[in-house]
Amino acid sequence: MTALSTGHPASFHAIEWRHQSLHLLDQRALPHEHHMLEYTTAAEVAAAIRDMVVRGAPAIGIAAAYGYALDALAGRDLQDAYQVLAESRPTAVNLFWALERMAALNTADAHTLVAEARRIHEEDIAANLTMGQFGASLINDNSVIYTHCNTGALATGGHGTALGVIRSAWGDNKVQQVYAGETRPWLQGARLTAWELMQDNIPVSLVCDGAAAQLFRREKVDWVIVGADRITANGDVANKIGTYSLAVLAKHHGINVMVVAPTTTFDLSLPSGDDIPIEQRPQEEVTSLAGKPIAPAGCQALNPSFDVTPAGLIDVIATEKGLIMQPDSDSIALLFSR
Ligand code: MRU
Repeated sequence: MTALSTGHPASFHAIEWRHQSLHLLDQRALPHEHHMLEYTTAAEVAAAIRDMVVRGAPAIGIAAAYGYALDALAGRDLQDAYQVLAESRPTAVNLFWALERMAALNTADAHTLVAEARRIHEEDIAANLTMGQFGASLINDNSVIYTHCNTGALATGGHGTALGVIRSAWGDNKVQQVYAGETRPWLQGARLTAWELMQDNIPVSLVCDGAAAQLFRREKVDWVIVGADRITANGDVANKIGTYSLAVLAKHHGINVMVVAPTTTFDLSLPSGDDIPIEQRPQEEVTSLAGKPIAPAGCQALNPSFDVTPAGLIDVIATEKGLIMQPDSDSIALLFSR
């Protein structure tokens, strides 16, 4: 792996395919350091996904597709490539969707597989732009939006899912204020979302996760807008830990909840969110901060990376195929039958 320097941070790309290798912006170091890391094997890409160099459901899928193509370029066994990538993180279904799409070509031809990975990357950007417009069409002027985790250009091929809707709505002059939940323990909201929004001059205030309830009680908040890692056939949504509590709070305070996700994030093989595998990450992510312990030595911690929000708490799911209002099994089946 080789570190390469990037240009100005405002022109960042989280994922780049250059000179027959994969370059990933190291998201662990953001926002204060910007460097790209270079990858040449599927096993290295799997480690990058597990270690959060690249994260966010669509971005994980794109990186996995390129990782698979890397092993084709080197003439390695593609079943091994599939296996090692599939074992990197369990919750985001985009990872498995992308690997299935690559394997379904049933070829070891590197040129074909690199081209397919590029197509997956380009299609994701196009999907983000389309669902950004669909989602923004529901937002009224002067809206105040609360978002969670990072769902922007860093988490996708570009533009973003929930952050894509916010970007599109901002472009339509509809956004008064964005609140970004800091998103303990990995701080995607503080380190990544605030950074992305500030580069676009979109007004953002960072909020401790625990402050959301008081904010919802005291201030005008119109929407909670979040992404998804896996959406089941009945409309239940797995997303970053803390999403479920935000949806419950939003219901209590009469705030609308929008989930924004490409159709590649749906897993119609699972009847409900109870069936979604939830990643448990290392305890140290909770007991330490920036490498420094913040809890007593030996303190036990739980670190589920995702939770499941029941469909009944969600007002709308925005996809590139259209809006699913009051999502349930019927409305989701209807969208996929089109
Ligand atoms: O652990 P992460 O940072 O990969 O989790 C990311 C999220 O939960 C996002 O909300 C989700 O992947 C949608 S990103 C467009």
